[in-house]
Amino acid sequence: MQVNGQYFRTIWVYNAKSIFADVQVIDQRFLPHRFEVETLSTYKEMVTAISDMHVRGSGLIGVAGAFGVYLTIREAFTTGKNDEFIKRATDELMNTRPTAVNLKWGIEQMISKVMHLPANADRVRLALTSSQHIANLDAESCKRIGLNGLPIIEQIAVRKRGYTVNILTHCNAGWLAFTDYGSALSPIYLAHRKGIRVHVWVDETRPRNQGAALTAWELLNEGVPHTLIADNTGGHLMQNGMIDLVIVGADRIAVNGDFANKIGTYLKALAAFDNQIPFYVAAPTSTIDFNLYRGIGIPIEQRSANEVRYVSGLYNNKVVDVLICPRETPAINYAFDVTPARLVTGIITEKGIVNALSDEIAKLGGS
Ligand code: MRU
Repeated sequence: MQVNGQYFRTIWVYNAKSIFADVQVIDQRFLPHRFEVETLSTYKEMVTAISDMHVRGSGLIGVAGAFGVYLTIREAFTTGKNDEFIKRATDELMNTRPTAVNLKWGIEQMISKVMHLPANADRVRLALTSSQHIANLDAESCKRIGLNGLPIIEQIAVRKRGYTVNILTHCNAGWLAFTDYGSALSPIYLAHRKGIRVHVWVDETRPRNQGAALTAWELLNEGVPHTLIADNTGGHLMQNGMIDLVIVGADRIAVNGDFANKIGTYLKALAAFDNQIPFYVAAPTSTIDFNLYRGIGIPIEQRSANEVRYVSGLYNNKVVDVLICPRETPAINYAFDVTPARLVTGIITEKGIVNALSDEIAKLGGS
């Protein structure tokens, strides 16, 4: 993705030729008002970056976990710490966010690729190249999701004789939620570049407003026509024929096709089902939990109640938090919900589109 004319990924290594390279990320806490890059030098800094959502989104969390393992191994080598330190640090990384299974995937990939080597410089070197490889894999998968999802939009455009295809998305499943390209937004970017007329309805996605802050920012940068809506607007738009298609991302998909995504996704799926609007999930296979048969077992992250009680925004050129309820009012903040497979038209992966209600998901497990 281009930011002010410069190509960026969401995460990369600074001074890539050195085996002691630091990791850099786009610090998403400041978007859309400020573009900031953060340098991470220790695994503890990566733990904070993931849990405090400097980086976020299922794919990016997985890649950040992988780079966190690299930083751990580098630290163990330079400070003479043993493998027990690595075990504790990777457990800490693993526990930063519970719902997106990509985190576990990224960390486990790293451990299996690297830990057979003795604790020397070669292990640090392999950890660095392995984490870069995982980042490239994530970007490549998202690119393929775009290619595989494009025909869905093309067919609707043909049916509408070239009139604008209106697509609703929830939260941010774009470039910022992965290393590059995105999942739900990847086919939309491709369709737009191919000259298909698309327009995106962007759910603001309370409480953290990833739709308003991040998806809108991405779409603006890509020149894709879009409109921000309050979270509860989707049903009304669907009833009035103003939505042709829904595409959302996922944080964990069970083998039976149930999936967890940002809180509020389930209600959009119900409304789409009631209005016979196709509802697609776009996700790389690293988001599938092949050990989990049903969505009911997906751990749902609960975050600070203050994310609900306050909203953050720009006021007099300063980002401020504003209390929106009585000071004493308690709140609860479930960050994700589970949508049953029966409401899903299809799952767009890098390996193709699968029917959520079949045994096709389990078959995606092979390489
Ligand atoms: O809590 P976040 O911002 O890390 O949320 C995850 C998500 O970005 C969404 O659930 C998204 O739709 C999943 S696809 C990356």
